[in-house]
Amino acid sequence: MLTDGFNRPHNYLRISLTDNCNFRCTYCMPHENMSFMPSAHLMQQDEIDHIAGIFVQLGVNKIRLTGGEPLVRKDAAAIMEKLAKYNTTLTLTTNGVRVHEFLEVFKKNGITSVNVSLDTLDTQKFARITRRNEFNRVWKNIELLLQNGFKVKVNMVVMKGVNEFEIPDFVALTRNLPLHVRFIEFMPFSGNKWNGQSVFTYAQMLELIAGHYHFTPLAGHPNDTAKKFKIPEHKGTFAVISTVTAPFCATCNRMRLTADGKMKNCLFSAGETDILGALRSGADIVPLIQTCLLHKEADRGGQFTDSFEDLNAATMKNRSMIAIGG
Ligand code: 5AD
Ligand code: SF4
Repeated sequence: MLTDGFNRPHNYLRISLTDNCNFRCTYCMPHENMSFMPSAHLMQQDEIDHIAGIFVQLGVNKIRLTGGEPLVRKDAAAIMEKLAKYNTTLTLTTNGVRVHEFLEVFKKNGITSVNVSLDTLDTQKFARITRRNEFNRVWKNIELLLQNGFKVKVNMVVMKGVNEFEIPDFVALTRNLPLHVRFIEFMPFSGNKWNGQSVFTYAQMLELIAGHYHFTPLAGHPNDTAKKFKIPEHKGTFAVISTVTAPFCATCNRMRLTADGKMKNCLFSAGETDILGALRSGADIVPLIQTCLLHKEADRGGQFTDSFEDLNAATMKNRSMIAIGG
């Protein structure tokens, strides 16, 4: 089993398949000068397979595919097929637009749970946030996943003044649909124009929901990032991912591979380790993985201060979210 310098076991790998996306979400992509990685810099199918296999040998038992948007990659299905053989929990985070084309691929490869990003239930606001007019397609695909028996988590990035007042509407969805809605505190990344005033906090979310519903906390798993809640008569649940005001680093078990094959030991790590380059030069990547993990900081890449209001996203050393993979 892989462990870091704080004795945290790490069994969960998130692999970004591409930094490209068919949306242009304002909070995820830099506003200016966005250029995508040349495809020769991306991990190729066999390289993803090889690297993932080594992580599995080292104890990884859960793999999540991310992007950009993982389903825009032409060989996404082939990659899922390759990774299915490792018998890990295989899953993905998607914007939902192409899900209908992949239902059978998911089923064939043992994917039973899908996270779909959706930040608003208002068609026009959806178009403003994503800069694409695809609300109806995404919503239909969420319904399609549910009809086909998938577990569906809906990720909503909550941005103050943009969508926080829709939180009760998202909770209302869980009444008749077995959806798991997750409200994510807006996080700072390079180029996303975050500032402390744009965060709608975990405490504020619970207070808002409490004005509409009676809810009870649900017991979680030790590595959960989400604090889960249930309204007794609802089919689904809701949860909060409170990275900014109440992080869950103490039980973190996550590692990341960017689409160009760099390992990040934390979503907010300043540094990265070139796994793909080493693999291509014929080096043994096991010690590189171990060393990268040993350098993991205790909390959010060591880049957060105690009061988030004082953080300046522009001075943080990191990639933009779209180039990390979430
Ligand atoms: N803050 C919080 N969540 C974000 N995501 C993307 N950018 C941000 C951000 N700045 C979310 C996406 C996706 C998940 C992987 O991360 O909506 O659901
Ligand atoms: Fe694309 Fe997801 Fe980023 Fe939006 S949040 S631009 S859908 S990768």
